[in-house]
Amino acid sequence: MFQTDLLKDKTIFITGGGTGLGKSMARRFLELEARVIIASRKFEALEATAKELGSEHEILPLELDVREYRDVEKALASALGHFGSVDVLLNNAAGNFVSPTEALSPRAFDVIVDIVLRGSYNTTLAFGKHWISQKQGARVLNIVTTYASTGSGYVVPSAIAKSGVQTLTRSLAVEWAKYGITMNAIAPGPFPTEGAWNRLLPPGLEKQFIDRIPLKRVGDHLELANLAAYLISDQSQYINGEVITIDGGEWLKGAGEFNFLDVLTAEEWQAMEQQVRKANKK
Ligand code: HXC
Ligand code: NAP
Repeated sequence: MFQTDLLKDKTIFITGGGTGLGKSMARRFLELEARVIIASRKFEALEATAKELGSEHEILPLELDVREYRDVEKALASALGHFGSVDVLLNNAAGNFVSPTEALSPRAFDVIVDIVLRGSYNTTLAFGKHWISQKQGARVLNIVTTYASTGSGYVVPSAIAKSGVQTLTRSLAVEWAKYGITMNAIAPGPFPTEGAWNRLLPPGLEKQFIDRIPLKRVGDHLELANLAAYLISDQSQYINGEVITIDGGEWLKGAGEFNFLDVLTAEEWQAMEQQVRKANKK
């Protein structure tokens, strides 16, 4: 899809890059000749991913809890020490689970909002201060969700936190453009990962989940990784403040008032036509 050196000389810091979509994006960026830092809480998992994906000249695993601003500053310093510069921040780390909202404790709200929203503004602030002081242009890419725009029941802490990240994207895209820092987001629909599937998909409801998607399938990690590669490459410099949905049309299907008519058979459509034509007769 791309020239193999699309991301040559770019250093990309991915939060939560040891598993799931973060790992798939790291793999794709390395294929496109980037250098990558993967940073999250579980160092052993990160080390295993780093070993699997590349050499120490290309990929650096770093232990980091994005909820702690000082730890973010330390991780940035380690990344700079290893690679010399960081050109892209990819806010991918997240936490989530499904639950009726009234069953949640205040701590359950905190844990999700802290990882997703506080984590994203911690990294963005620390990296932004660094880039601005160095007079270095840079890109930020945030992974949100389609329900960051629509809201969603049963994942309310995640929904409010992701919509905060979406607002952060649109706000700083404008404010920091003067420093050459641009900011975009991807809103994925369902992409199978262990982290999301175990926490979000009630057993037995897999078919219902997929039936809601107009394309009748989940996303392929490579589809998302290629979109991310484009959005952090020099070829997309003029895209700023955008939130790009990649969901097979899932959220629109839920939104369009008559989309439920998918269930009608050919015979029912004929009967419907006759009913409409009859109503049209003067
Ligand atoms: C109600 C729950 C709960 C549940 C935990 N809690 N699970 N409440 N229902 N199912 C409560 C706990 O009781 C506790 O509150 C509080 O949350 C924090 O619990 P901890 O024990 O500290 O955390 P723990 O439950 O171990 O872990 C929560 C987590 C973990 C940190 C969020 O799930 C995690 O590490 N997640 C990272 C990976 C992840 O979530 N990936 C999915 C991303 S997918 P009390 O008051 O009892 O102490 C995504 C979008 C997907 O974001 C969209 C798909 C289409
Ligand atoms: P995942 O594999 O569970 O990824 C989440 C990552 O976040 C993990 O690698 C985890 O690593 C890291 N993380 C969690 N808390 C952290 C913290 N405090 N500090 C640093 N890192 C932390 O799930 P995924 O499906 O790939 O999700 C990746 C992104 O895509 C998330 O932003 C998610 O909201 C978004 N998304 C996914 C889907 C989907 O269908 N999969 C749909 C929409 C949006 P550690 O446990 O090592 O910390």
